[in-house]
Amino acid sequence: MVKKAKSPVTYAKMKGIVSYFAALIKEKKFGSTDLLQKCGNSHPFYRHVDSECFRRPEGSVCDKAGAAALCFTTSAEEQQRSLVSAADFDYLKVIGTGSFGKVLLARHKQNDKYYAVKVVKKHIILKKKVEGHIICERNVLLKTVNHPFLVRLHFSFQTRDRLYLVLDYAGGGELFYHLQRESVFTEPRARFYAAEMASALGYLHSLHIVYRDLKPENILLDSAGHVVLTDFGLCKEGIVGRATTKTFCGTPEYLAPEVLQQSEYDRTVDWWGLGAVLHEMLYGLPPFYSADRMVMLRNIMFQPLVLKAGVSKAGRDLLKRLLNRDRAKRLGAKHDVAELQHHSFFSSIQWDELVTKKITPPFVPSLSGPDDLTNVDPAFTNLPVPQSLGMCEEDGITFPGFSYMSQNVPSLSTQTNGY
Ligand code: ADE
Repeated sequence: MVKKAKSPVTYAKMKGIVSYFAALIKEKKFGSTDLLQKCGNSHPFYRHVDSECFRRPEGSVCDKAGAAALCFTTSAEEQQRSLVSAADFDYLKVIGTGSFGKVLLARHKQNDKYYAVKVVKKHIILKKKVEGHIICERNVLLKTVNHPFLVRLHFSFQTRDRLYLVLDYAGGGELFYHLQRESVFTEPRARFYAAEMASALGYLHSLHIVYRDLKPENILLDSAGHVVLTDFGLCKEGIVGRATTKTFCGTPEYLAPEVLQQSEYDRTVDWWGLGAVLHEMLYGLPPFYSADRMVMLRNIMFQPLVLKAGVSKAGRDLLKRLLNRDRAKRLGAKHDVAELQHHSFFSSIQWDELVTKKITPPFVPSLSGPDDLTNVDPAFTNLPVPQSLGMCEEDGITFPGFSYMSQNVPSLSTQTNGY
């Protein structure tokens, strides 16, 4: 629930430690360097804090904060002292838009690193009563920072009006931007992307998270050509094994029939989604396609799947099994990603190598640097950048527990996206 700025505890375990150190610093009992020394690298508190922040010049937001861990705080007063704030970034270009806000390429003013910053207006969230989605996105990203094919969250923070998610910038652009230019992908190329996506989805499922919304605009490429799944706004946490959920929202073209029908569904919706995306990579159109949206919806629910020649037998068999309307018989229903991994379409994939990024991507996006925007649709980059983004207003409604700083120090010291 959204509450007026008063500080409910979110990271209960942390709070005692945080307030203890915050109080000590406030009282100038010791400085931030002492704090680092006192905590040591192994302290759980330290693991949530980027040491760079302690070395900021006097007068910066970080120093005002006094204690690094205040990125976990929730009240407006504490938010003021948050380590990372909207003012720490230069917002350069719009690189995506959605119903909840914009994604911008931004440069961190101090370390010159580039990030994709998703900015969501609170009033839209409140109006649409979808607070759960953005909070869910943040929670999911927090839980899943360690998978190579899932976008990494570095920070989240909020101003009076907006929520910010600071993510890796995937400079290769949307996978489907490249597909549109080439009509179809070769089977080896489609196999590589499908395998990386399957690996990420299997990982999410192992955390009892259903991605739900596998669709073209959520599948990005990093600068090396690896898949990066982004936008966890519709993820459903806590679906375990055969447990199901009935809530629904999303783009219809790639949604499983049980979701469209608002029937109960489970993690197997993601294997349908992967089937739909693989179909588009191999045939150039999603399955059951019709220019008439209503016809397409009807097709998805009732039309037999027709797979034309031009795709290997193994490819067609995989599509048939993933796009099975009976989710209990769909590939992945019993043993999840393991069933896909054993399918003959993927027989050439070394899964251990894949997940350690040892397989060379079939296509490397041409990029001149970490801020290259050539793979981003000009329909986005031509949009004006809102001037107010870097302003940190005080007061307003606080979304408790939203603010966050990456556990891993590299966020401010090494760019993780290849540049
Ligand atoms: N569009 C949406 N999220 C993005 C990201 N993380 N990197 C690049 N473009 C994006």
